[in-house]
Amino acid sequence: MNAVSDILIIGGGVIGLAIAVELKRRGATVTVLSRDFSAATAHAAAGMLAPQAEEISSSPMLELCRASRLLYPEWVYKLEQITGMTTGYWPCGILAPVYDTPALTASHRADNDNSVRQWLDSPAIHLYQPGLGADVVGGWWYPEDAQVDNRALLKALRLAAQEQGVDLTEGVSVEAIEQQNRQVVAVRTAVGEFRARHYILATGAWSQQLLPIPVSPKKGQMLSLQMPKGDNESLPLQRILFAPETYLVPRRDGRLIIGATSEDVGWTPHNTPAGIQSLLESASRLYPDLRHWSIQEMWWGFRPATPDELPILGQGSCENLIFATGHYRNGILLAPITATLICDLIEQQKPDPLLEHFHHSRFYKTEQGSVASNGKNPAFVSRHLSSPEATPTPMPLTFSTPTFDSPTVETELTDPLIIAGRKFRSRLMTGTGKYQTLEQMQQSIAASGSQIVTVAVRRVQTKAAGHEGLAEALDWTKLWMLPNTAGCKTAEEAVRVARLGREMAKLLGQEDNNFVKLEVIPDAKYLLPDPIGTLEAAEQLVKEGFAVLPYINADPLLAKRLEELGCVTVMPLGSPIGSGQGIKNAANIEIIIEEANVPVVVDAGIGTPSEAAYSMELGADALLINSAIAMAKNPVAMGQSMGMATQAGRLAYLSGRIPIKIYATASSPLTGTVGN
Ligand code: GLY
Repeated sequence: MNAVSDILIIGGGVIGLAIAVELKRRGATVTVLSRDFSAATAHAAAGMLAPQAEEISSSPMLELCRASRLLYPEWVYKLEQITGMTTGYWPCGILAPVYDTPALTASHRADNDNSVRQWLDSPAIHLYQPGLGADVVGGWWYPEDAQVDNRALLKALRLAAQEQGVDLTEGVSVEAIEQQNRQVVAVRTAVGEFRARHYILATGAWSQQLLPIPVSPKKGQMLSLQMPKGDNESLPLQRILFAPETYLVPRRDGRLIIGATSEDVGWTPHNTPAGIQSLLESASRLYPDLRHWSIQEMWWGFRPATPDELPILGQGSCENLIFATGHYRNGILLAPITATLICDLIEQQKPDPLLEHFHHSRFYKTEQGSVASNGKNPAFVSRHLSSPEATPTPMPLTFSTPTFDSPTVETELTDPLIIAGRKFRSRLMTGTGKYQTLEQMQQSIAASGSQIVTVAVRRVQTKAAGHEGLAEALDWTKLWMLPNTAGCKTAEEAVRVARLGREMAKLLGQEDNNFVKLEVIPDAKYLLPDPIGTLEAAEQLVKEGFAVLPYINADPLLAKRLEELGCVTVMPLGSPIGSGQGIKNAANIEIIIEEANVPVVVDAGIGTPSEAAYSMELGADALLINSAIAMAKNPVAMGQSMGMATQAGRLAYLSGRIPIKIYATASSPLTGTVGN
């Protein structure tokens, strides 16, 4: 085990370091884990301290930003004192020129904050700032907005942390946050475990790689020019220009930072001609002279964006876990206030009322607007789902639902499916993919009687088409979630996604759910699982305490190896996923069933209820069916039918079928039966 500190901060960006320095100043022992300090988003920023120019409309956010701007002078002064470095803090003000006066005045009339600002009409703004584009028709002057040299600030923060004795550990990737009973017990990394009393997640745009909180990367491309010096070494631009589509941030050393694109392209790296061209066009329109200045550098970064563009701050999903992430466009600005509020929270165990507005639970509100009553069954509410027209309204079923809750046969009560010590009434597992609507999915699963429902963690996390709002559309107080690693091509990916799946189940209220359906599928054509990758991933996941349900080809030896490793089921395929080809490998499945001491779940390929019943008659303990239900003409009816077939097949298996004979035997024997 590695260092034990009072506080362990995951993330060495501006937020993580700002909190580290403040905590240390207050007397705590602090460890910061960082994968790569130079990758921090703050490195790519422009360093504007611009609550007004950014036109922040949420009033708690404006309050937070302005409070932070107010803290800045003293905060950087202290850092400079500690380190002897400069941070480039410059209260230079921001001029926000516009090309279209009416739109601007309308938007600002609605703005009733008390900040200092001044409207400049066309002659005034051109006089005030010579060199602006001819079509600038006016603009606002925000004298209180400012800037800091973000790269210098990061360096100073890092040095301050070092000088004060913060344990900075670089080059360490956090692989998992281990939790028990709503407490983080350790952080797992490639170089071992780290433990602390409190943990702070400050991983910015990368947060979703560790926990299923809605922070995603929003790419920004930027470049810098060298400004020519005028008479007396003066620079042509001495204040920030913030216009629609671009901003120009002059530094005292003569650089001019031009930002920034805002692109939803995931983690796609690099500058692009289109991105740089659009910036140069907007910048040249704003300040035409810059077309002749030399280009110094181009770069890009990833802002940590949340669905409502507000940060996620305060108590996290465990009692000793705090979130400080999702600062989107304002991480540099919000660093001092975030550090102050988070440190107060840890020190006083009492959140500042302002923090309430930034609590992660705002994304888990139910449709009525309140957090789920048990406080443990939160669900991400995407904008899509929370809009009234998109709220799923269950449609009435047009036929009777099966009587799974009051079975007429004993088997339902006396013959539960037991996986990893957990009992299930239904032996049919279903999936959530490929349905046309969430309502259809909800009703089909209900009609099937299924209690175990598998969810593709990666697709839910990335909100892949058809997966928006999917995980929260089901009632996880009644269903057992089986997170799956669909989409993972390697063992390593599958292990990572399995960990995320466990977090997702926790966030959705299933604290003790350690199940994972392991899929390692490198081949996109046949979607056949990789036996070696599956074995490797299973070994790791079993070690980490997962109940592993591996999806495999119907290979009896592999099934045995997986069972010996500690997997809680084996899930041989009947035929390729979604093919509806039925059970193509009955002989091998029969061997697996005969040899297994864990439940055998036939997964994939089943197309009809007769094939479902057949698999159960072979002695399978359970089935997993998705495509055959979701893609049927009437998925709800097919769900019901598959549920009945599973039940019928199981009952038939237990009842003992008659032996197959070569010749006929009369149905009405002459002796030895009732009545003789
Ligand atoms: N804070 C400016 C940006 O994110 O582009």
